[in-house]
Amino acid sequence: MHKDFESFCRRFKAAAAGKEDAENAVAAGIPLVQELLSSDLWWRDFIREVLAERTWFKQQPPTLWPNEITLYRSPDQSFLILAYIWESYSVDTIHDHGSWGIVGSYINKIREVKYLRLDDGAVAGHAELEATEEKVLKPGEITTVFPLDGGIHQMENTSGDIAVTINVYGRTVRRGYLQFFDRERSTVRRVYPPRTFKEVLMVRTLAAMGGAADILSEAMGNSLPDYVREEYCQALG
Ligand SMILES: [Fe+2]
Repeated sequence: MHKDFESFCRRFKAAAAGKEDAENAVAAGIPLVQELLSSDLWWRDFIREVLAERTWFKQQPPTLWPNEITLYRSPDQSFLILAYIWESYSVDTIHDHGSWGIVGSYINKIREVKYLRLDDGAVAGHAELEATEEKVLKPGEITTVFPLDGGIHQMENTSGDIAVTINVYGRTVRRGYLQFFDRERSTVRRVYPPRTFKEVLMVRTLAAMGGAADILSEAMGNSLPDYVREEYCQALG
């Protein structure tokens, strides 16, 4: 690990990760992230090591976003540092987050649109969104997100060049899934990490096929996270 990046991790933990209040943590973390964005030595060093050793690729668990790179995970799970490498003209789905986050544009520009959720979430699968802010972040510029409805946004690389963002996230308040929104259809759906997703798809398939109560009940004897158990319960009807 490059000394600048190591120093960032150490100072970030001391400054931000210990703060319970998300607003305070973000305020304390922003100057440090800006400092990290001001140099590319540590980033070059990271890529150099990964490409030289190659074992890194096999060790990475599958992630929800294939362009996501885990740079550091604090042992106490109080924060997580990711890089996202955005292909030219790539756009992600409107989504929420399970924690606060500091997102810095690092290499080239990235466009962000923030959304306000207008409904109260009472109708499952339904969500009304209104765009509230649109900005193009130049290298070194930062945006922030907050958990759940406090950080619904969409990122887009509007240029023909590759772009990189550095994203630092705090402790997770809702584990297990994110939500993807479809503004035109006014819908919202849960998005699970790849392994969980395969299980959920199978459970939903059993629900669609019918007559699978015995299979579902047997599998529910396993210890399951709450959000996966909810899928089983829905499948049982
Ligand atoms: Fe995001």
